[in-house]
Amino acid sequence: AAGADDGASRSLSSCLVSHGVTNFALPTSPSYAAILNSSISNLRFALPDVGKPAAVVLPASKQDLQRAVLCARNSSLAIRVRSGGHSYEGLSYTTENRVPFVVIDLANLNRVRVDAGSATAWAESGATLGELYYAVGRSSRSLAFSAGSCSTIGLGGIVSGGGFGLLSRKFGLAADNVLDAVLVDADGRALDRTTMGADVFWAIRGGGGGSWGVVYSWKLRLVPVPRNVTVFSVGRSGPVELVAGLIHRWQFVAPSLPDDFYLSVYLPTGDLGSSSSSDGSVSVSFSGQVLGPKHRALSALRQSFPELGLTESEVAETSWLDATAQFAGLDTAADLPNRLLGSKQYSKGKSDYVRSPISRRAMAGIVRYLSTGPPRQGQGQGGGYVILDPYGGAMARIGSGDTPCPHRAGTLYGVQYQVYWDDDLGGRAAAAGEYCVGWLRSLYAFMAPHVSKDPRAAYVNYLDLDLGADNWTAPAEGSSEAAVARARSSWGAAYFGDNFDRLVRAKTAVDPGNVFNNAQSIPPL
Ligand code: FDA
Repeated sequence: AAGADDGASRSLSSCLVSHGVTNFALPTSPSYAAILNSSISNLRFALPDVGKPAAVVLPASKQDLQRAVLCARNSSLAIRVRSGGHSYEGLSYTTENRVPFVVIDLANLNRVRVDAGSATAWAESGATLGELYYAVGRSSRSLAFSAGSCSTIGLGGIVSGGGFGLLSRKFGLAADNVLDAVLVDADGRALDRTTMGADVFWAIRGGGGGSWGVVYSWKLRLVPVPRNVTVFSVGRSGPVELVAGLIHRWQFVAPSLPDDFYLSVYLPTGDLGSSSSSDGSVSVSFSGQVLGPKHRALSALRQSFPELGLTESEVAETSWLDATAQFAGLDTAADLPNRLLGSKQYSKGKSDYVRSPISRRAMAGIVRYLSTGPPRQGQGQGGGYVILDPYGGAMARIGSGDTPCPHRAGTLYGVQYQVYWDDDLGGRAAAAGEYCVGWLRSLYAFMAPHVSKDPRAAYVNYLDLDLGADNWTAPAEGSSEAAVARARSSWGAAYFGDNFDRLVRAKTAVDPGNVFNNAQSIPPL
C-alpha cells in the first residue's frame, strides 16, 4: 500500500505542478506533519495508526481548487476537503479502510468581503467563524452573522451542516442565511446557485459536508443586532434535586422566551466522582445572550425564571463582537481571527433532541448519572459535559423541509454530549479514552427514554459514526438502492428525517459517480 501511495503522490504532484499549483506538501516534505496537524482539533485522528494522506494541497485561488480536484481524480486518489478541521469524526482528513487520499485544505481560502450597505458578505469556505465575525463586527457594530460559538470552526463545514448558535432563535441556522454559493463539482466546474439547480443549492445548505463537491465560497445574509447586547454566564450549585429542579424549569422557559433571548445549560460530569465534591453538591451553569439592554433581560428573566435568581451584577452589556469573543472563550475580540487558538483534545461527542419536557424526577436521575461520570480534567480520567441548546423562535418557524435540517417546530432543545481527555494523562491516555467513550455510550443509552424517538434524531454537525457508516470500499455488499436504504434507516433518518430522499436526489444529480464520499456521505442512486 505504501508503494501505491508513493506512486499516487508522485502522479498528483506532477499534475499539480504542471497546472501551476505549487502549494502542497507530500509525506516527504519537511512541512507535511505540521500542515496536516495544523487544524486537527480531535487528537484521536492524529495518532500514528490513523492513515495519512498522499498529499495536503492548499489552494490559493478558486482555479487552484478546481485543478486540485481534477489532479486528485487523475491520480485516482480519494478527496477529503478540510476547512476548519473540526469534524467530530475527523472526516475531513481521514479515509476508511486506508483508501489512498489527498486532503484539499482550504486554510488559505479565507477571504471575507463584507458589504455593510446591503448587509451581505461573500466569504471563502476556509475562513473560520472568528475571521468572519471579526470582519462583520468591524464593518458595523449593528451587523452580525448567525452561526456557532467556537472561533476556529471553518465555514465550509459548519454551514454545510447547518450551524446553530446564539442568534439562531432569532435568525435561524447559518445555512438558513445563505443567499448564494460557488460549488466546485467532481468535474472541476464552478457552479453558482442558478447553475447548480434548486435541489443541489438546497442540499449544500445543511445536508452535511463532503457529499456534494467543494463549496468554494458562500454569499451570506448578515443580520441586525443592537449596538449593545446583554450577556451572562452564571453558575449554580447545590443538592442534585435543586439543580435538577432548575433544569426542569428551564425546559419550559428557554424554548418559549422571546426570539431575542438565548439561554443554554452547561452541566459538567463527575461532580460526585471519587475524589471531588465531598458535600454532595453538583453544579450547573446557564449562559445567556439577550439582544437588548440589561434592564429588559433582567426583568424578563426574573419574571419567567425567578428560580435562577439572576442579579444585576451577573449581567453585562457589550457589543455583539465582544460577546462573541467571550462565548468563544477568548480574552478579546482581536483574538477572533487567530486560527491557532483552537484547543486540541482527544474527544468524542454525540447529540440528541428533546421534544417533550423531561419530568423532574427523571431529570434528577440524569443529573445524578452525570455526576458520577468522568471527573474533571487533571484527576486522571478526562472529563465531560452536556450542553442543552434552546430551540423555538425562528428555529420553529422555519419549515422542516426548507433546508435539509428537519429539527424545527416541536423541538424544545438540542443536547450535546462530550467527553474529552488529553496527553497530560501520559501512559493512561488510551485507558482514559476507552473509559470516557464507554461511559458516553452508556449515558446515551440511559437517555433513550427521554429524547426524540422514531427516529432518534441527531445533529449532522455533531457527527457520530456510532449511528452507522457507509462502506464505499465494499461495494459487494449490495446495490446502490441497498446502500441508500441502509443509510436512510440509520444515520440518514437521524440527521435528516424526511429530507433524506431529496438529499439522495440532489447527490444523484450533482455527483452520480460518488467522487465526494466519506463514512457518512449521502449515497447516490
Ligand atoms: P472540517 O474541515 O473538519 O469539515 C467538516 C466536514 O465538512 C467534513 O466532512 C469536510 O470534508 C466537509 N467540508 C469542509 N469544508 C468543506 C467545503 N468547503 N465544501 C464541502 N465540504 C466541506 N456546530 C454548531 O452548529 N454550533 C456550534 O457552536 C459548534 N461548536 C463546536 C465547537 C467545537 C470545539 C467543535 C469541534 C465543533 C463544534 N460544532 C458546532 C460542530 C461543527 O459545526 C462541525 O464540526 C463542522 O462540520 C466543522 O466545520 P469545519 O470546517 O471546522 O470542519
